[in-house]
Formats: sequence, C-alpha cells, structure tokens
Amino acid sequence: MSKFESALSRRAFAGTVLAAGAFAATRGLAQGAAPSITAESPLGPFYPVGYRGEDDFDMTMLKGHTTRALGEVIEVSGRVLDRYGKPMKNAALDIWQANSVGRYAHDNEQNTAPLDPNFQGVAKLVTGNSGEWRIRTIKPKFYDTPLGVRTPHIHFDVVGSAHRLVAQMYFPEETEANAKDFLYKDIGAGAPTSVAQLTAPATYRWDIVLMDAARS
Ligand SMILES: [Fe+2]
Repeated sequence: MSKFESALSRRAFAGTVLAAGAFAATRGLAQGAAPSITAESPLGPFYPVGYRGEDDFDMTMLKGHTTRALGEVIEVSGRVLDRYGKPMKNAALDIWQANSVGRYAHDNEQNTAPLDPNFQGVAKLVTGNSGEWRIRTIKPKFYDTPLGVRTPHIHFDVVGSAHRLVAQMYFPEETEANAKDFLYKDIGAGAPTSVAQLTAPATYRWDIVLMDAARS
C-alpha cells in the first residue's frame, strides 16, 4: 500500500468511526455501539467458480439422496449488518467449505481424502428484511496445505449494496488450532470478528458486518 493509499484508508477509517458515533448518538445508543467491521480473509483456491449444483441452505442433504452428509451436523446463522449495525436486506452470500475429512469438491483440490457424495459443500443465500441467513452443514475438518494446517473454517463471499466482503468464519472451540493458523494470524486485531459464538450444542451464531451504509 502506498503512503497515499495508507493515508486515505486511515482517513476513511476515522470518518467511519465518527459517523458511527454520530449515528449511535442520534439513536440514543452508547458511543461505540456500532459493531466492528468483519475482517477480510483471502478467497483461497476453492471458491466455487461456475458452480451449478444444488445451493440451498441445507448442505447436509441433497435432493433425491436418502443419506445425509458424513460428519457432525451443525446449524450456523447470523445477520448481515451495515457498519452502523443495521440489518441489510438483499445481501448475497456465497458459502463454501471442506467436508468432514477436510476435502473440497473442487478442481484445485490436491487433498486425496475422500469426497462425500452426499455433501453439498456450497450454499448461495440472499438475506430478507431482517438481514438473517442460516445454513445447516457439517463441521469441516482441518486440512493440510503447503503453507501449514488450516484450522476448521467456512468461507463466505458477501455482497451488500456497495461493498463486498470475502471472509472466513472460525469455530470458538478451536482456540488452539486457530492461533496456529497462518491466515487467522494474518487477521491480527480483527480476529475476534471472524469467530462465531456457540449458542447451543452444534449451533453457532455469526453476524457479518460490511462497510456498507444500508439504505432504508
Ligand atoms: Fe478453506
């Protein structure tokens, strides 16, 4: 990043903080109530380019199949929010992940662990008025890469009205593995924004905060 870009992004960041504070004040919220913007992570080599398969919210069950995907079934839900914490409707989410043995169904995959013919692996969702999204999936396993072991994670590509965020969601019970993960470490101070909350057994909650200012 050039000095000029760096100065620009610092100014944009300061502006965001000021605007968020002003908005919070007018709504009677405490200063600083605006949420932290979710940290960006690399897209990675397994983005489902040109995917034409089933892409509904239930990644554990394919139409016409009688067997569910292998692995621990989990529910993950959350909201897409703008930088002031306002729910964003019509945000588009592309979600993809490895299966229960750490294998992606993707041409770039080098892992020889078995594919699961009953695992969807990809979901494409659009938020409604409340900004809510939800998937049923299986907890992905860690996997090895030439750069090190990846802690379990789910990939997200989220498109709001004016901004796009590529991010990865991490699991709160994997604190040790997360801390060793080279991409998690790269996030730095923003890492907590990438970790979901466990709200009930096998149930996770993760709000995604974009740079957008939602239109009402
Ligand atoms: Fe990945």
